[in-house]
Amino acid sequence: DGLAIIVVAAGSGTRLGYGMPKALVPLAGRPILGIALESVARALPSARIIVTVPAGDTELSAIAVAHGAHAVTGGATRAQSVACALAAVDCAATYVLVHDAARCLVPARVITAVVAALAAGERAVVPVLPVNDTVRGVDAQGHSAGTVDRSGLRAVQTPQGFDADLLVDVNRQAGLLELDDQGALTPVNRVADPEGITDDASLIERFARHVPVTLVAGHDESFKITRPFDLVTARAVLEERAH
Ligand code: CTP
Ligand code: MG
Repeated sequence: DGLAIIVVAAGSGTRLGYGMPKALVPLAGRPILGIALESVARALPSARIIVTVPAGDTELSAIAVAHGAHAVTGGATRAQSVACALAAVDCAATYVLVHDAARCLVPARVITAVVAALAAGERAVVPVLPVNDTVRGVDAQGHSAGTVDRSGLRAVQTPQGFDADLLVDVNRQAGLLELDDQGALTPVNRVADPEGITDDASLIERFARHVPVTLVAGHDESFKITRPFDLVTARAVLEERAH
C-alpha cells in the first residue's frame, strides 16, 4: 500500500560478542530479528518489509521469509545496507521507513507516529528522546573540553521515515546508489561512507538541505541492543510485557 519498511540486520554484532550476527542472537529463546519483525508487523500489517542480511547468510533470510519479508544481502556499512535494500524496494513505494533490527522492542505507537507524520506531509521523520546524562566534550587528547548543554540535544532512534523518492535521491547524491545501464537502481560498494553520515536523516541534511527533518517522540523501549548489558534490559522489558 505504498509503504515499505527496511529492517537492517546485516551487521556482525561485534560489540555484543556472541560470535554470530546480532539479529540471530536469542532473546527469551527467539532470535532478535524475529522479535523485530513481529514489532513491525503489529504496527504495519500490510507494509512491504525488506530485511538486509549479511553476505552468505541463510538463517536470517529464513526468518525474514517466514515473516513474509523479503531478504536482501546488505553491505559493509549500515548506509550501504540501506542502499542495497532501497535498490530492491518496489519503485511504487511512496514512503520508506528504515529500522534497526537491533531496536527489536520498538512499540507500535512509535512506528505509527512516524507514518502519521509522513501521511501529514512531512518528508523526513526521526524519533528522538531527550538526553538523560550530562554530556561533556573532549579534545583530541581526551582532555575535558567542557560540558555541553543537553537541553539542546536529542538522542536519535529508528524507525526513521522518508518520502521514498527523497531517500533514493539523497542516496544517489551521496554515491551510495546509482543507475545501471538498464536504468535500474544499484548499490555502489565503497570502502567508507560519506563522512559524518551516521544515520539516514543526516543524508537529508547533507544533500537536501531545504527539506526539514521532523522530530517525533521516541520511546525508551526502542533502545538499540548493542552491548551484553542491553540484553538484560531487553529480557526485563519482555518479562514486563508478559504480565
Ligand atoms: N547493519 C547493517 N549492515 C551493516 C552494519 C549494520 O544492516 N553493514 C545493521 C545492524 O544489523 C543493526 C543496525 O544496522 O541492526 C545498527 O547497527 P549496529 O547496532 O552497529 O549493529 P552491528 O553493526 O551488527 O553491531 P557492531 O557495530 O557491534 O558490530
Ligand atoms: Mg555496527
